[in-house]
Amino acid sequence: MEGAVPVIAIDGPSGSGKGTVGRFLARRLGWHFLDSGLLYRLVGLAALRRGIPLDDEERLGALARSLEAAFREGPDGELQVLLEGEDVTEALRGEGCAAAASRVAALPPVRQALLERQRAFRRPPGLVADGRDMGTVVFPDAPLKVFLTASREARARRRYNQLKGKDAGVNLAAILEELAERDARDSARSISPLRPAPDAVTVDTTALTVDEAVARILALWRERAGKDGGSFGKGGSS
Ligand code: C5P
Repeated sequence: MEGAVPVIAIDGPSGSGKGTVGRFLARRLGWHFLDSGLLYRLVGLAALRRGIPLDDEERLGALARSLEAAFREGPDGELQVLLEGEDVTEALRGEGCAAAASRVAALPPVRQALLERQRAFRRPPGLVADGRDMGTVVFPDAPLKVFLTASREARARRRYNQLKGKDAGVNLAAILEELAERDARDSARSISPLRPAPDAVTVDTTALTVDEAVARILALWRERAGKDGGSFGKGGSS
């Protein structure tokens, strides 16, 4: 592990703030960022568009293996996601897509197909990876694993605030219900269920701002990197 590219794994349920906190953290450290949920959403979206049943393991596994996806920075600095050359960034954010993602994510061939794609994001000087199984399965040797949580109400409200500007029909009660269903599916599945790695540090963001959550993880990282005598690279010194 010495000399390996460092990874900060951030796992947690939907709406815990992983995406925003992870992105800010990566920016502060000057590291790469992997939003692994986007890969599952891409498979979900492609399956819906092609009319592939969301329980057809064989076809969905093949779809995940052959998926032609690309990521680039848009003019506003935001991440854009391309599926077969088409910008699908907006389509991926929808709750329909999230639900499809959580269905296909329960299938072993899909998870297996996405494993190497996720590991390919580990490049110098470091990677902040967010998802459900970053610390348990994809990067089990990550020197820092964080499990980000928040109350379900706080998570639903965050999702509502994200979506309401874009979707006039958005409804808090429906989001709360959908989150509960997705939490149950993500935690109960037999493969890579959502759960903290034994060596993860839990950070509850219910009462934290994004900046506070980022500061807390940066402090954890500095403590960890300091103890290691700096062999994780110079990330975290900024
Ligand atoms: O993080 P996000 O909400 O975009 O993820 C969408 C769905 O993808 C999750 O509900 C989960 O089922 C699945 N997922 C996963 N493993 C990951 C990331 C996401 O199973 N590492």
